[in-house]
Amino acid sequence: MDSEKRIILTGFMGVGKSTVARFLASLLQCRKIDLDACIERAEGKTIAEIIKSSGEARFRQIESANLRRILICDEAQIIALGGGAWTIEENRRLIKERNFTTVWLESSFEHCWRNIRFSKRERPLASNKQRAAKLFDERQRLYCLADWHFIVKPELTSLDVARKIAEEVFSMQF
Ligand code: S3P
Repeated sequence: MDSEKRIILTGFMGVGKSTVARFLASLLQCRKIDLDACIERAEGKTIAEIIKSSGEARFRQIESANLRRILICDEAQIIALGGGAWTIEENRRLIKERNFTTVWLESSFEHCWRNIRFSKRERPLASNKQRAAKLFDERQRLYCLADWHFIVKPELTSLDVARKIAEEVFSMQF
């Protein structure tokens, strides 16, 4: 198994990045970090509260600062990003500079939208279907820049996806 590799999970809201990261960390017996959870801890507010009270531009600054801190100071082997973090050029540059392998969890908009609608988490940037669909379309060309693409079909569980990543990216045998 390739135990040195450190990976970043990216992909649209609702695709399951945080859950896949959790299963992957348990399969690889390593530590994972969730960028959104880190920001919420550091700021003492939910992501939705930050975006609603300070705006998206300020949220992106906070997000980039937290990502930078994690990439430089934390040894976690798996990092789950929020869906917009990878779309910021400075973040992508830093991720590459730090030699992370990037994994795009790719799925259909309808699949992501279903999860967004049924999730308890509030996502101000996906407050209605039209807005979310526009963002989804705009971001595909940026998610495409990730090193690995894994298609998350609706019939796959997050554990199935984590197993596939473990097998293919980390050459782990089950
Ligand atoms: C965002 C995705 C969210 C969160 C914030 C903005 C985005 O994370 O960071 O609401 O711009 O796609 P999830 O992808 O975990 O929902």
